[in-house]
Amino acid sequence: MTTSVTVTVNGSERRLAVDPRRTLLDLLREDLRLTGTKKGCDHGQCGACTVLVNGRRVLSCLSLAVMAEGADVTTIEGVGTPDALHPLQAAFIRHDAMQCGYCTSGQIMSALEVLADPEVTTREQIAEAMSGNLCRCGAYAGIVAAILDVKAHAPV
Ligand code: FES
Ligand code: FES
Repeated sequence: MTTSVTVTVNGSERRLAVDPRRTLLDLLREDLRLTGTKKGCDHGQCGACTVLVNGRRVLSCLSLAVMAEGADVTTIEGVGTPDALHPLQAAFIRHDAMQCGYCTSGQIMSALEVLADPEVTTREQIAEAMSGNLCRCGAYAGIVAAILDVKAHAPV
C-alpha cells in the first residue's frame, strides 16, 4: 500500500507515492536521489541525517515521510552552491571543521538552526547546542570555531 505525499524540497514541490512506513531520510536519499543527507546510525543517535523542516532541524531517520506532508524541507543541496558557498560552508573550510566529511552535511544543517538562535552565543553554548551531531573524526573544535566565526562576522 502506498500513500501520496506532497513536499517542497529545496524550493521544488515534489509529489510521491510512498509506503506509509518510509522515513523522510529514505525518501530524500533513495526516491529523490539527494544523497548529501547521510545515513549514519539510522536510530536517531548521530545527527548525520539532519535536515530542516519548516526551518527547524529534524532527524530525518526518525521522521516518517508522510509527516512532511505540505512542509518545506531543506537539505544540504539547498544550501549554497559550489561557486557561492553559504558563509557557514566557507567557515567550515577555513576552520578545517571536517576530515572524512561524513557528518558534515548534518553538522551544517544543524548549525543553521544554531546560527539563527540569538540565545546561543558562546563557545560552550554552541558546543551544547551541537551535541546531537557526532563526529567520529573529532573535528568538534573546528566546527564550533566555524559557527562562532559566522555568528561574529557574517550573521545569517
Ligand atoms: S542517521 Fe539519523 S541520527 Fe543517525
Ligand atoms: S568529519 Fe568524519 S565523522 Fe565528522
